[in-house]
Amino acid sequence: MSGWLVIAGLGPGSETLVTPEVTAALAEATDVVGYIPYVARVAPREGLTLHASDNRVELDRARHALQMAAAGRRVVVVSSGDPGVFAMAAAVFEAVESGPADWRELDIRVLPGITAMLAAAARAGAPLGHDFCAINLSDNLKPWALIEKRLRLAAEADFAMAFYNPRSKARPEGFARALGMLRDVCGDDRPVIFARAVSTPEQAIRVVPLTEATPDMADMRTVVLVGSSLTRIIARNGVPIVYTPRSAPE
Ligand SMILES: C[S@@+](CC[C@H](N)C(=O)[O-])C[C@H]1O[C@@H](n2cnc3c(N)ncnc32)[C@H](O)[C@@H]1O
Repeated sequence: MSGWLVIAGLGPGSETLVTPEVTAALAEATDVVGYIPYVARVAPREGLTLHASDNRVELDRARHALQMAAAGRRVVVVSSGDPGVFAMAAAVFEAVESGPADWRELDIRVLPGITAMLAAAARAGAPLGHDFCAINLSDNLKPWALIEKRLRLAAEADFAMAFYNPRSKARPEGFARALGMLRDVCGDDRPVIFARAVSTPEQAIRVVPLTEATPDMADMRTVVLVGSSLTRIIARNGVPIVYTPRSAPE
């Protein structure tokens, strides 16, 4: 069996942030599989078939990729950012675990990418310089009550936090509730970074205190970073520098 399956992260948007090993895998692939806007980032060429599919069909997409690899094709499943962060790598392994036994023998590799949270943090300074956590605010695959519990405990534990999928047209309420809860636990001055379309021509980075953060500042192209109680702001012209010191007091 000469087929293989690579699950690759394309990074947050800029071609300069795609790793060389992902570029090399794409150059060897016979098939690229993924969500429509991510597949659109792969240049068409002779010998390469692009299989773009809609959102929310991750398991079908994963099974299709595995079937093609089992048939001897060289398949790259693409995600934005890192494929292991709220993305296709876990979906592929869910399909492997519940699929035919021979899928376990396939040559499957995960190639990391630069996740949105880290690209955004780098643009703002070093807000994740000490302990932090990442939470997906979408309740498509988990109950909202669990999101609220994790948010509250993370805020009480004084983590800096990164929120993926903060707000969509289908879920306008959740992020407003999340901000309200954070104000209860964290107070008003906590820095909040709204990082939209990081590393693309539409990039916009906005830093506001929690009390001024409003739900409409985020959409599905935004990752939201919230500082810990130790996070500091260095004022300067334009976007300030936000960083969290490496140490915490006793
Ligand atoms: C389904 S998650 C995929 C995350 C991706 N696997 C990663 O590692 O970045 C999609 C969410 O990632 C965040 N995101 C992805 N690319 C982004 C970018 N260029 N700028 C800001 N946020 C981004 C947004 O919160 C978006 O709603």
